[in-house]
Amino acid sequence: MTTLLTDHGLLRAWRAESTETEFAQLYGRMHEEGPLIALPWGAVLVTSHAACRDVLADPVTWRNPDAQDFQRLCGPGAGKPARHGVNRTLFHLNGPDHAAQRRRFASFFTPLAMEAHSATIRNIVSGAVAGFVDRVTRTGSGDAVADLVAPAAGRVMCTLLGVSEQDHGFITRMASDLSFVEELAPRPSCVKQADAAIIELLAYGKRLIHDRTFTPEGGLIAYLLSQAGSSSRNTVDDVVTALVLMMTAGVSTSMALMSSAVLALGGDDDARHEAGAFVAECLRCDPPAHMVGRIAALDTVLAGQQVARGTLAHVMIGAANRDPAVFAQPHVFSPGRPQSRSLTFGAGPHYCLGAGLARLSAVHLVTAWRQWATGLAITKSRHRRRSGPNFRHLLSLPVTVISR
Ligand code: HEM
Repeated sequence: MTTLLTDHGLLRAWRAESTETEFAQLYGRMHEEGPLIALPWGAVLVTSHAACRDVLADPVTWRNPDAQDFQRLCGPGAGKPARHGVNRTLFHLNGPDHAAQRRRFASFFTPLAMEAHSATIRNIVSGAVAGFVDRVTRTGSGDAVADLVAPAAGRVMCTLLGVSEQDHGFITRMASDLSFVEELAPRPSCVKQADAAIIELLAYGKRLIHDRTFTPEGGLIAYLLSQAGSSSRNTVDDVVTALVLMMTAGVSTSMALMSSAVLALGGDDDARHEAGAFVAECLRCDPPAHMVGRIAALDTVLAGQQVARGTLAHVMIGAANRDPAVFAQPHVFSPGRPQSRSLTFGAGPHYCLGAGLARLSAVHLVTAWRQWATGLAITKSRHRRRSGPNFRHLLSLPVTVISR
């Protein structure tokens, strides 16, 4: 197994690079190093598509990191409020606890239930594009992340939760603050921000239940409350855990996908690609989460190499999606290629429950943009991304009016 210790350049690049060309180079170099790369802190990077898929599909050998793992890996940091809150969500449950919680959420995220939200989601996203185009046309410029994608994703999540759409700014702020918890080695100031967000979400959840300011039917909050039989303490915990799950799973990720779709739009030939295929290629090339973690539950062999029980594996979705063994010309954006093998939504028992919803929102956005935004220019060279091994999404994407 290669050790990244011997190559500080690659390690630095993995933590920091933040342009599309840099991802391509970084993942290209990872594939040259091999399917497993040892890291200085005893973890391994899993880079090949086959090895990533093997890990994700085998929950007996590879479990999701839980509270005890974080205790061991992070020391006192594991007791912080945000880490504690996120540890209670589906992402960090295993075995029967995971299966039971997953069943509850899966019966909310049925295709039929999502179908019931689909017209509202189309109206929210198309309305956001129309409003954005109108504003940019009047003022001359705008930011597709702050002024279009954030309010659209926030409103979609409000609909799904069944809370007032006016809360969309709060929802996107909570999601952004909490996302730092799932970044590799976040800065202390970011951890503080995430801890403060958990406290605000707890107060928000309590208020929602106390004042009953959620829609009585169709939303996730009403669904969870209709199921809760026991004490009010359990009910509040349940609702807050669901809010934390939705913030960490569904808001920043949807924003990332929609902004990456806007960035990819405006190419010479993009209109000839069907919106679904276009979005699927955005998901492959620019995944909203570049990695997920797993712990070896047993001594095992992966990609032909021994891995000891207890080893932390960083499963590199971003690298798997650019594996030349699976995707011809992996760094070329080419809508229409066979997509079923992209690992952007994970694989196995933790496969994303909101995949359909996220795709739907992005397809509506692409369709509406193509229809109404023909007078706008995306200033591709001036976009900014977050840097980090996991979340590299756009923070800003300036848009102007095409001068005629
Ligand atoms: C483009 C947007 C999205 C991406 C790329 C994405 C990606 C992922 C990935 C990779 C996982 C698996 C994590 C693991 O294996 O440890 C996951 C799980 C999950 N996602 Fe998504 N997601 C997106 C949007 C959403 C949305 C919109 C929702 C809900 C509204 C959602 C809800 C969930 C839930 C509940 C899980 C946990 C499933 C489990 O652990 O059993 N996701 N997502």
